[in-house]
Amino acid sequence: MEAVVQLIATKRAREIQEIISDLELLKLDPRYREAAEINIRFFKAARSIFSFIHWLIFVAPELRRKRESLLELGDLPLEKWQRRGYDALAKIERHKFARIVTTGFARELCQIILKVKEIENNNEALVMLDFGFGGGELGRRVFEELPHVPLVYIGVDITPANIELAKKAFKPLHETGEIVFKEIPKVDDETIDTLRQLANDTSKKVVAVCLGDIFDLDKYVSPGKIDIICHSRVLHHISPVDRPRLVDICQRLSPITVEMDDRYCFWFKFWATLGTWVIYPSVTLMNGAVLSWLRDPAKEELRGYFKLVPPFCYVRLIFGQNIYSQDEKWEAAMKTLVRDFSFKG
Ligand SMILES: C[S@@+](CC[C@H](N)C(=O)[O-])C[C@H]1O[C@@H](n2cnc3c(N)ncnc32)[C@H](O)[C@@H]1O
Repeated sequence: MEAVVQLIATKRAREIQEIISDLELLKLDPRYREAAEINIRFFKAARSIFSFIHWLIFVAPELRRKRESLLELGDLPLEKWQRRGYDALAKIERHKFARIVTTGFARELCQIILKVKEIENNNEALVMLDFGFGGGELGRRVFEELPHVPLVYIGVDITPANIELAKKAFKPLHETGEIVFKEIPKVDDETIDTLRQLANDTSKKVVAVCLGDIFDLDKYVSPGKIDIICHSRVLHHISPVDRPRLVDICQRLSPITVEMDDRYCFWFKFWATLGTWVIYPSVTLMNGAVLSWLRDPAKEELRGYFKLVPPFCYVRLIFGQNIYSQDEKWEAAMKTLVRDFSFKG
């Protein structure tokens, strides 16, 4: 046992040293200097549990104050570490006990999918677009919960490592005939129509993954082609300047967008981080988890139609504009969709 603990500690120390060396090089680029310095300080602290607790108590609150400019390791152009971080995230999301981090989101999303299906009241497959979809864990959870709902699930992500992860996770389902899986070069009207037709013809879930930037989406997709847009734990990766642009794209393209993210709660994350240190000692995962948490909104900051879901997460609904706005049926449907949501203007 002692030998195993020693081995993990040595591997961790070596990995931290490699990350710090890569960050030192990145620091030479003025665009990333500040982010690299913050991350170097994080990884130096992560060498021991005592220096890490010190960092959590004294440095983390200081970073919270300048959260708008924070970047985590996965946001920096270091492909190897992006891959490690997202790999660890995918593993933890699939873990029997850690699945709880996605359960609240999946349940809410499924309820919304069922309501939208009822509103549309036809036999067509629904087209759902998940951007920043990582390895697609949320999609797979929706499939488990809604095995009989005809769906096209399109995942768009800007990080190549995540497309590889998604391929690895979805291809076995394709091979056993449970789903139809495609990798697509871009999301446009024609592709969406083809995928929808494929789902209608085969009566199977169709999954399409695309390497791309969400900000390019409205160049090729017309309003109303997508039935639901969703994104989970992505917002803190988008700069505050770009967030209104993102909301605008969602509102123009889809009648409903489901935004899902974590809420800021210092003590919950403090203990969760220390727990992760012991149970799943991945420093790249911990970096993503902690620096994401520092950028999350507090409950008091939430606006619009939102609902708090465990564990310390929220779901927010954003309605499309000028898609079905003249339709009385849609007005009534919106009331059904927001029934158990709070509203704050
Ligand atoms: C923390 S991960 C969340 C992954 C997944 N949605 C989940 O809940 O586990 C954030 C994801 O957003 C992606 N992302 C960030 N900016 C993006 C953009 N402009 N367009 C598409 N994807 C983006 C990242 O590549 C990353 O996979």
